[in-house]
Amino acid sequence: MLDTAEMPAISAPPIGRPGDPCVMVIFGVAGDLTRRKLIPALYNLAKAHLLSREFAVVGIARTPMSTDDFRKKISEDIKQFAGTQVDPDLWEWFVRRMHYLPGDFRDKKIYQQLKDTLQKVDKDHSTHGNYFFYLATAPEFFGTIIENLGEAGLLGQDNQHWRRIIIEKPFGHDLESARALNKQLLKVAEEKQVYRIDHYLGKETVQNILAFRFANGIFEPVWNRRYIDHVEISVAETVGVEKRGSYYDTAGALRDMVPNHMMQLISLTSMEPPISFQADAVRDEQAKILHAIQPMSAEEVLRRTVRGQYGEGIVEGQRVPAYREEEGVPPDSRTETFVAIKLLIDNWRWADVPFYLRTGKRLAARSTQVMIQFRRAPFVLFRDTPVENLMPNQLVLHIQPEEGISLRFAAKVPGPVMRLGPVDMNFAYADYFGQQPNTGYERLLHDCMIGDPTLFQRADMVEAGWCVVSPILDVWKALPPRNFPNYAAGTWGPKEADDLLERDGRRWRNFEK
Ligand code: BG6
Repeated sequence: MLDTAEMPAISAPPIGRPGDPCVMVIFGVAGDLTRRKLIPALYNLAKAHLLSREFAVVGIARTPMSTDDFRKKISEDIKQFAGTQVDPDLWEWFVRRMHYLPGDFRDKKIYQQLKDTLQKVDKDHSTHGNYFFYLATAPEFFGTIIENLGEAGLLGQDNQHWRRIIIEKPFGHDLESARALNKQLLKVAEEKQVYRIDHYLGKETVQNILAFRFANGIFEPVWNRRYIDHVEISVAETVGVEKRGSYYDTAGALRDMVPNHMMQLISLTSMEPPISFQADAVRDEQAKILHAIQPMSAEEVLRRTVRGQYGEGIVEGQRVPAYREEEGVPPDSRTETFVAIKLLIDNWRWADVPFYLRTGKRLAARSTQVMIQFRRAPFVLFRDTPVENLMPNQLVLHIQPEEGISLRFAAKVPGPVMRLGPVDMNFAYADYFGQQPNTGYERLLHDCMIGDPTLFQRADMVEAGWCVVSPILDVWKALPPRNFPNYAAGTWGPKEADDLLERDGRRWRNFEK
């Protein structure tokens, strides 16, 4: 039955064109990502008129379920995860486009069934033979799915229709496996068909780093080693490993956060201006800066990295267990839940400017920030306020949960004597733009539907990220930690992380709630 019904209009006309007609195939559709992020994001796109009315989803998972059951399930889930009131007419339109195919990704027969289903869905929804495959499965299935999609001829594209693959993280578990996965992908598809997702690039505040740097004239001239003392990038979480203990224990904080999310933050903060906003112009600059990160020798790894694991403690007023007591985690686990690293970038803009990275679970507050600390004023002008005591200017890009930008500078404290104190100039997104329901996946899914890979990782970028962490993985593997757990849940991580900065005469910017 042909179903390309007009989408009920419930909001203002779109900014941007709707995605192309297409079918999105979700492998692992029964998982958390689909209900929490993907379906709400698609619904938000429909609401914003950014989804083609010739659109459909085919979900695949092992759970035995009919399309009707699937529709019922997501209709329940959406109430919890939409983040906004769900419009019944629009939802009805939306859910009619959802289809389900039960099956095991390792079973070759399922790909033939998928092919048949796609032909039918394509006809019913007039999706022009355009398909994109979203791999939302455990990483051990990536290779099998890719190979089978290729064998089934589902990745062949021509001028009449396109085929794309979105692949979730973790992309490999070290450099070698990331290279092998890239090789496997590029055997069955061209690079331009591959969209390696990093959900950090879906965050407005992360995209805004580019806007802030390259749409304003006043920051770029001081964005270099002459004016910047150091940069600190913190991704602090208060959550533990939640229900993902068995995955997390094989990954650890370094693999889980650094080659991907933290490399995005570092590259956007430090890259050169691209020659245009074309996907490859932006990604060339990102890749270039990642290649310029100084490789660490084994001795440097020992000096410039810190790892930690949380013991029990108190987070947001609640007593929480130690990492080793979490579900799925062995009681003698040596996996790190915290990492701090000092990186250097070998180029003219950044030579000798340290980039301090820190991320961890069960820390004292949830906050992701990029802090740029400028050099101190060079000369003691105010006699009773020695320059050393003055807080240097700090520009903080607040990524989450606060979303905004603040600039710290010194001001005269009112009164008859000349006294100085630090003050903040603050910009908060919510004050200007209000709160839009956003899962962080809307932009990325829409970009894939219009064929814009700017915010996706290219093969060379993923490999460059792994190159940075490889020497750390090697040294840490050779020298297992002996002092775990070494920080209490609800604190700012192990003392060695403070020492890392203190040795350079600096301190972490701590942000209590
Ligand atoms: C994921 C990691 O990629 O990112 C998680 O696997 C982490 O361990 C999460 O909690 C953080 O994402 P966000 O968007 O909450 O900062």
